[in-house]
Amino acid sequence: MANTSNTTFLDSIRRVAPHVRPILPRLLLGMFSALAASIVALAIPQVYRILINTALQPGTGSEGLWAAAAVVLVLGMLEAAFIAMRRQFVIVPATTVEKTMRTAFYRHLQDLAVEFHDRWASGQLLSRAMSDLNFMRRWMAFGAIMLVATTLTVTIGVVLMFTLSWQLGLIFLAAAVPIMVVGFRFRRTYGLVSRRSQDQAGDLATAVEESVHGIRVLKAFGRGREALDAFAGQAAELRETEIHKAKSLAVFSLVVTLLPELALGTGLVVGVLLVAHDGLSVGALVAFFATAAVVAGPVEAMGPLMAMTLTAKTAIDRHYEVMDAPNTITDPAVPLEPTGVRGELRFNGVRFRYPGTPADRPDVLDGVDLALRAGETMALVGVTGCGKTTLLSLVPRLYDVTAGSITLDGTDLRDLPLDALRTHVSVAFEDTTLFSDSVRENVLLGAATQPGMSDDDVLARALEVAQAGFAYTLPDGVDTLIGEEGLSLSGGQRQRIALARAIAAAPRVLVLDDPLSALDVNTEERVEARLRAVLEGTTTLIVAHRPSTVALADRVALLRDGRIDAVGTHSELLASNAHYRYVLASLSEEPRDLDTELEDKDDELIRDWEADEEQEARA
Ligand SMILES: Nc1ncnc2c1ncn2[C@@H]1O[C@H](COP(=O)(O)OP(=O)(O)OP(=O)(O)O)[C@@H](O)[C@H]1O
Ligand SMILES: [Mg+2]
Repeated sequence: MANTSNTTFLDSIRRVAPHVRPILPRLLLGMFSALAASIVALAIPQVYRILINTALQPGTGSEGLWAAAAVVLVLGMLEAAFIAMRRQFVIVPATTVEKTMRTAFYRHLQDLAVEFHDRWASGQLLSRAMSDLNFMRRWMAFGAIMLVATTLTVTIGVVLMFTLSWQLGLIFLAAAVPIMVVGFRFRRTYGLVSRRSQDQAGDLATAVEESVHGIRVLKAFGRGREALDAFAGQAAELRETEIHKAKSLAVFSLVVTLLPELALGTGLVVGVLLVAHDGLSVGALVAFFATAAVVAGPVEAMGPLMAMTLTAKTAIDRHYEVMDAPNTITDPAVPLEPTGVRGELRFNGVRFRYPGTPADRPDVLDGVDLALRAGETMALVGVTGCGKTTLLSLVPRLYDVTAGSITLDGTDLRDLPLDALRTHVSVAFEDTTLFSDSVRENVLLGAATQPGMSDDDVLARALEVAQAGFAYTLPDGVDTLIGEEGLSLSGGQRQRIALARAIAAAPRVLVLDDPLSALDVNTEERVEARLRAVLEGTTTLIVAHRPSTVALADRVALLRDGRIDAVGTHSELLASNAHYRYVLASLSEEPRDLDTELEDKDDELIRDWEADEEQEARA
């Protein structure tokens, strides 16, 4: 993960500038209101000065007192009104910026290649999308405005204090020097700890996400306790960081509170002496201290405001670390619009290795040559881990080939607009992902409108082919919410919905990663019978872990050591290729989970089976 905490504060601010520009007038109005509120507050002591120096002198009537009280009341009300206006001006635009940036973030996450998501933990992205942008918004709507208004207020206040008494003003100015020194140190430490805390919060979010996702495994293996301990450890680390943060803020706050108080005490002694020696009027002395009291508020607020600002800087940096991640899979500069796609798919010397694979590991795909005729169904067979899923994921360009090329009707996939490619290619993966939405929405996710067919027709046909008619019997039929938030489905049910989704898209090229592995033999047979009709005319590359799935295909390609070892019909390969016979025999008709335990037994069976096959072939 890139750490850009060495950017300066201005660098970070510059990044958000484009988002802020449209709302700048309102932010300035907000800032103006905040400043106006402070100035009004600063005016009140001036009224005291006049009151004491004139209206309260012996021999004057009470009208002056009433007038002064009325002025103070009006000023108080004005201050409150300005504070309300500040909120009014900035809340809406700041939330707008937050929304825009959050949407842009989400769009970027969608655009970023799978390779990025392989590297980044979900919680880090989650915390950036949620809390970091929240920090930033609160800073924009409050922190930034108040920081500017506060600084100006303090400056004006100090100038006023100087005009009232330069001697007393100097005492307060002297107190500002240590504040600045401590403030500088605070900025450095707090910036670092704030970064650490936000990163740790992201890690914590990942831990929650993973354990909620894997709750069944944790429970079934009784690992809840260990998960909790690990989590508690992480939470404790975050707590340490938060304490560190709070301590650092506490020290700074102590200094900004204590020093003005000290100056106030010293000032009081000096002030009384000055009054006694006729160097200062009583009214000016009272006004001075009333002003000092008004200024003390903003000075004390400096600590939290600076903390907020540093947190916001970290948040902006974290946001842009993701936004700056380049999208490696992009539309071509000059896209070739495909016309009348036939669906001829070719792999030409395709090599692939996952980004970040250690150098001593071989490429997963090491020169794959394979040609699928338009409308052909090709089964892809190979031992587990040989790269079948990897090869499939190259077709919708989830990853790009490292070398070589894949062509659709002779056009390199990288020359097609991504949208068009992904309309023509439809996939169903091994691990079926359903969204917390209705069956209908899940199935019609990638479905284009088809001539002469309503959405309901498309849905009905897809569910029928995938033998997912059970969807109509769910509590709300096809509108039942499924996936994470809704009704949970069985593995086989999920798989059939995912298959229906791939079919509903009515693609020219269908890429299926063992779409029937979780089905019982009878259901599988029914799906296959229906699927055969649909596959007619659709170029299909289907990973097969079961002989029955192989039977769907016109031809079979055998993947071995990163290359296509052989291509042919099932019976051709059976007759000619020993590795094919081996792989096929190890593809059990039973659920695959028990495979490893049964491995030794399998080897025996395979040998027997091969002997039988040979005998049969000879007979
Ligand atoms: N995202 C990834 N990052 C790095 N390596 C990966 C990634 N996905 C898979 N691999 C590696 O690539 C190799 C091929 O994996 P792949 O999933 O393509 O195998 P497969 O043939 O589909 O296996 P199976 O039959 O078990 O589904 C494996 O060695 C695997 O460890
Ligand atoms: Mg696989």
